[in-house]
Amino acid sequence: MKMLKKFAAIGIGVSMLVSVAACGTTRSGTQEQSEAKTLDPSKTLVGISMPEQQLERWNKDGQNLKQLLEAQGYQVNLQYADGKTDLQTSQIQNMANQGAKIVIIASLDGQATGAAAELCKENGATVIAYDRMIMNTDAVDYYTSFDNEKIGEMQGKYIVDSLKLEQGATGPFNVELMSGSPDDNNAKYYFEGAWKYLGPYFKSGVLQSQSGKVPESVDRWQSIGIQSWDRQKAQSEMENRINSYYNTGVRLDAVLSPNDSIALGTVNAIEGAGLSYYPIITGQDAENANVQAIVQGKQSMSVFKDYKKLADAAVEIVNAVAQGQQAKTSTTQNNDTKDVPSQLVVPEVVDKANVKTLLVDSGYISAHDAGLE
Ligand code: GAL
Repeated sequence: MKMLKKFAAIGIGVSMLVSVAACGTTRSGTQEQSEAKTLDPSKTLVGISMPEQQLERWNKDGQNLKQLLEAQGYQVNLQYADGKTDLQTSQIQNMANQGAKIVIIASLDGQATGAAAELCKENGATVIAYDRMIMNTDAVDYYTSFDNEKIGEMQGKYIVDSLKLEQGATGPFNVELMSGSPDDNNAKYYFEGAWKYLGPYFKSGVLQSQSGKVPESVDRWQSIGIQSWDRQKAQSEMENRINSYYNTGVRLDAVLSPNDSIALGTVNAIEGAGLSYYPIITGQDAENANVQAIVQGKQSMSVFKDYKKLADAAVEIVNAVAQGQQAKTSTTQNNDTKDVPSQLVVPEVVDKANVKTLLVDSGYISAHDAGLE
C-alpha cells in the first residue's frame, strides 16, 4: 500500500511537471506533450471485468459497455468471472499484463479485488469500480454506480406505504427480511436504506417477524444474507420460514427481498407452499422475468437501474481519461481508504402502475418481454 501511495505521489508530481512543461514550451514540445498525455482509442485496451452471467443484468451491462466502447474505437477485453472470486482476480491480472490502460471492474467481492486493482495501477492503468466499490485500497480512481442506499430506501418505503403505516395502520404485520450476498459491499447499503423505513416500525411492534430473523442492529445485516444472491438459496430459506411459521393461517404480509433473483425465489417458495395469496415482495434490477411477475401480480415492485445510463457514465470517464483529463464526477464515496470520485445514477421504482410507461414506452424492454402481450 505504501509503495502504491508513493507511486501515486510520483505520478502526480510527474503530471504536474508535464502540465507546466506543456504550458510554456515550444510548439513541438507542446505537441509532443499532448501526444504523450492522450490515448489513441484504437491503441487503447480497455478491460471489463464482470462478476457472472447467471443474472441477466451483468450480461446486459457487459455487452452494452463493450459495444459502446468499441463503437468509439477502443479495443475491449470483456471477461465474466463465473461467480468465482479467484477467477475474477486472475482475469483482472491478465488484463493488467496485457497492458490495459483502463480497467472497469464490477467486483464479486469488493474486498478481494483490491490486490488485482493494485496490479493494474502499478502497470499504469486507470481503475474504475463499476456498480460495486473496490474496498480498502487507494488503487481505485473512479466509481460509477447507482445511489445504493436510496435503492434500499425505495424497497423499505414501498412496504411502509403499501401497509399504510404512515396513515396509522397498527397491524401488527408480519414481514420476513432477507439481505443480499454477505460478500457484496452494496448489500449493506440496501439493507441500511430499507431499515431506515422498517426499523422504527419493528421497534414499535407494528412490524414483526415470526421467524425472528431480524438483525440485532443494522450492521448485522449479513446474518440474514443470501449468499451469491442465489435464487435457489432464497427459495429454500423462504420455504423453511413459510412451512414453519405461515402455513397455519398466519398471514405473511410482506417480504423484504433485496433483488430480483431473491424475489423470484420467494415467489417460487410461496407457490410451492400453496399459499393462496402473494405478500408484498420487493426486488431490484427489473429483470424480464420479474417484470412479468409484476405484471402478473406476483411481485410488487422492483428498482429499475438503467444499465445504459450506468454504462454512459463509465464511458464518459473512459473518454476523459483517454483525453488526459480528470473525469467529471458528482460526489465521492469512501472505500475505507480514500474518497473515490464518484458518479451516481438515480434509480426508479417500478410497479404494476408504471411498468408500461417506465419500461415499455421508453423502449427499455418490449411489451412481449414485459408480459403485456
Ligand atoms: C448488486 C447490484 C444489484 C444486484 C445484485 C445482484 O451489487 O448492485 O444490481 O443485481 O448485486 O447481482
